[in-house]
Parts: sequence; C-alpha cells; structure tokens
Amino acid sequence: MDAKTYIKHASKRINTEEKRWIDVFLSFLKNKSLIFEVGSGTGRFSNYIEKRGYFLIRSDVDKAFIKYQSRKFNKMVYLFDIIVGHLPKKIPKEIDGLFIGCVFNFLSPYGVNSALTNSKKILRSKGYLAFNVSMEWGENDVKKLLKKHSLKLERLFQDKWWYYIICKRK
Ligand SMILES: C[S@@+](CC[C@H](N)C(=O)[O-])C[C@H]1O[C@@H](n2cnc3c(N)ncnc32)[C@H](O)[C@@H]1O
Repeated sequence: MDAKTYIKHASKRINTEEKRWIDVFLSFLKNKSLIFEVGSGTGRFSNYIEKRGYFLIRSDVDKAFIKYQSRKFNKMVYLFDIIVGHLPKKIPKEIDGLFIGCVFNFLSPYGVNSALTNSKKILRSKGYLAFNVSMEWGENDVKKLLKKHSLKLERLFQDKWWYYIICKRK
C-alpha cells in the first residue's frame, strides 16, 4: 500500500492495547527523556506520547508521511531509515527511548535484524526500545530475536493481532 492510500484509510487513533503498551513504555522513562520514533507515519503514536508530556523526535523513511505530519501538525519530521541507521546530524547520538510501532512487519528478516542492530547503536546503555510484531511471528521467535541482539525483555503484551514488546539495552 502506498503512503497516500495508507494516510487516507489507516486509523489515526490508538487503541486500548496500544495505549497500555505506550503507557508502560513511558513509565520506564524519566519525564525529561529523549524519545526517538521510527516510522512515525501519520503521527498517531507521536501525538499521544507528546500529549503525555514527553519530548519526542519524529522520523520516517517516506517523504509522503513526513510531508503529511509537517503540514497537519506543523511538526519537524526527520528522514531516517532504521535499516541504514544513519541518524540526522542534529539528533543526539544517545537516545533514552526508541519507539517503533507497526514498522517491523513491513521489513524483511534481514531488515528486522539490521533495525535491531541499529536500534542498539542509537539507544543509550540501559535505554528502552518498544516495538510490535504481528501474531504470525510467535512468542518464541520474538524471544529468540531479543536474545540474538542481547536485548532484555521487560514486557510482552498481546491482543488478537499483535505482540507488543518493551525491551532494554543491556
Ligand atoms: C504501517 S505504517 C505505521 C505508521 C505509524 N507508526 C502508525 O502505526 O500509525 C509503517 C511506517 O513505517 C515506515 N517505515 C517502513 N520502513 C521503514 C524503515 N526502513 N525505516 C523507517 N521507517 C520505515 C513507513 O514509512 C510507515 O510510516
């Protein structure tokens, strides 16, 4: 699905399970923490996190999403590809919280591995990463992936469709 179709049809709201996941993720972080969001899309997660009073930097790999958020919310959205992992120069190198919602399902297995390798590079030591993957993955696949990347699982929630993960860089 191209970005324009997605923007037109996808929900702009977060559901109860997503809210619970984000609230727990935020509870691990101090109020002044720097949160970096990958794949902000239409900005529904970023808007909620900002409403909760946290400082968040938005990013996306797709210029159509960047344009949409800049126009609709007057927000700065950085161009960033988590598979490549080069942070824009203005972004601090050490991030306290990395939020990647509904992105990994669009990446290949190679992409997910690169994304996790790069996530660890940009997260500070003991920083927190939140991401979700669809149920097709299976809980064991998620746990194996975290083990492979030496990420400590803090929370794993699930609903009918998704696993919601919060993990910590060791
Ligand atoms: C299904 S949308 C989800 C958007 C938003 N996170 C949400 O849940 O509303 C997937 C998002 O991931 C972004 N994306 C896909 N591959 C990416 C990559 N390699 N690096 C960063 N963002 C990526 C897309 O551009 C899109 O904004």
